[in-house]
Amino acid sequence: MRSDVELAEEILRRADALAACSEEANRITRVAYSPAMRLANDLVAGWMREAGLSVREDAAGNLLGRYDARQPGAKTLLIGSHLDSVRDAGRYDGPLGVLVAIACVQKLHDAGERLPFAIEVAGFCDEEGVRFQTTYLGSRALAGTLTAADLAQVDAQGVSIAEAMRGFGANPEHLDLARREARELIGYVEVHIEQGPVLDRMALPVGVVTGIVGQTRATLTFTGRAGHAGTTPPGFRQDALAGAAHLILLVETLMLREPGLLATVGQIEIQPGASNVIPGVARLTVDLRHADNTVREHFMELLAAGARHTARQRRLEVKHEIVQSTASVNCAPEFISLLQQAAQAHVPQVVELPSGAGHDAAALAALTPVGMLFVRCKDGISHHPDESVQAEDVAVALGVLSDFLRLVK
Ligand code: HGY
Ligand code: MN
Ligand code: MN
Repeated sequence: MRSDVELAEEILRRADALAACSEEANRITRVAYSPAMRLANDLVAGWMREAGLSVREDAAGNLLGRYDARQPGAKTLLIGSHLDSVRDAGRYDGPLGVLVAIACVQKLHDAGERLPFAIEVAGFCDEEGVRFQTTYLGSRALAGTLTAADLAQVDAQGVSIAEAMRGFGANPEHLDLARREARELIGYVEVHIEQGPVLDRMALPVGVVTGIVGQTRATLTFTGRAGHAGTTPPGFRQDALAGAAHLILLVETLMLREPGLLATVGQIEIQPGASNVIPGVARLTVDLRHADNTVREHFMELLAAGARHTARQRRLEVKHEIVQSTASVNCAPEFISLLQQAAQAHVPQVVELPSGAGHDAAALAALTPVGMLFVRCKDGISHHPDESVQAEDVAVALGVLSDFLRLVK
C-alpha cells in the first residue's frame, strides 16, 4: 500500500499530465465542452477506473466515478471539484480536488475496503464560466438549478451551451437525468487550493472552510458613435471607451470605499478596434463579491446607476446585464466540525477561513450540505501559471479527507 506522500507525488504528476490538456500550446486553458476538456475527461476517467471507480458522464457532461457502499441502497457522499480552467490558468485550481478525491478512493480500493455509504467523485465540467460566463454549469445541473434559458447563452463564436453540450456528447434535452435527489445524498465535500495567502502566511498546510462569498457577474455595454480620430472635435465625440474608462475607475473607487467588497473589471472589448477610430462600442465585465448578499446587490445597483449617469453625460447608450448571481453560502456545521476533527491529527493548528473564490460547493449547497478543505498554495497565487502546491501539503489533505470519510455517518 502506498503512503499518502507517495500518492501525493502521483497526484502532482497527474496534475502535470492534465495541464497538457489545453487548447493553447504553451499555457493552460481548458473551457467547458472543448476538445481539451474531452482529453481531460478521458485521462481522468482512466485514473478513476484504476482506483476502482465505475465511470460515466452525466447529461451535463460532468465526469462521475462511483465507489459503491458495503451494501446496496446506501446514501452517497459526493467529493471532487472541477476540471475546467480559466485562461492561462494554474494547474491545481479544480484538478487538485478531483485528484485528491480519486486518491482517497484508491486507498480504500487498495485495501479492499467499502464504507457504509457510496462515494461519487465528480469532475465538474464548467465551474469557471469562462466560455459562457454562466459559472457552475455542471454542478448546477446536479443541483437541478440549471434552466433551459441558461442553455441559450452563447460563447464568443455564437455557439450555445446546448449546442456545445451536444458536440461534447452530453444531452441538453435530458438535463433532468443529471439532477440528483437530496434524499440520496449525504453531502458534498471539496478539496481545493485556497487561492489566497492566509494558510501560506500562517505556515499551515490545510484549513477548514466556513463559507463561500456570493458573487455577481455582469456586463456593461456602452454604445456611442465610431468616428475619425483625426477630424472629430471633442464636442462632437460619443466615445464609448471613454465612458467605459470612467466606469472602470468607479468600480475601483467603490471597492476602496467599502470594506469586504471586491470588484473587478476582467474583460473589455471595443469596436471597431482601430487606433485611428473613436470606439463606438465598449463592452466590459464586472465581477462583484461580498459576504453579505444585500451589500453586493446594493453595489451592483450603484454601479448601474453610475453607468447610466456617465452615459447621459457623454451622449452614450448603456446596457447593463446581470449574467449570473450566486448568493453567499455557509458550509454545513457538521462537515466543518468533522473536517476539524479529521484535521487535528495532521496539523498543529486547525484554522477556519471563508472563501473569497467561488466553488462548485456554492452551487451544490442548494441541494445538499457542503464542506470544503483548503490546501495552502504558494503566496496565494491562483488563476495564474505560477500556482503551486507542495506534495507534503497534498499528502496532509489526502490524510484529512481519508480520516473525514471514516467520521461521516
Ligand atoms: O472566480 C472564482 O471565484 C472561481 O475561481 N471560479
Ligand atoms: Mn478558479
Ligand atoms: Mn476552482
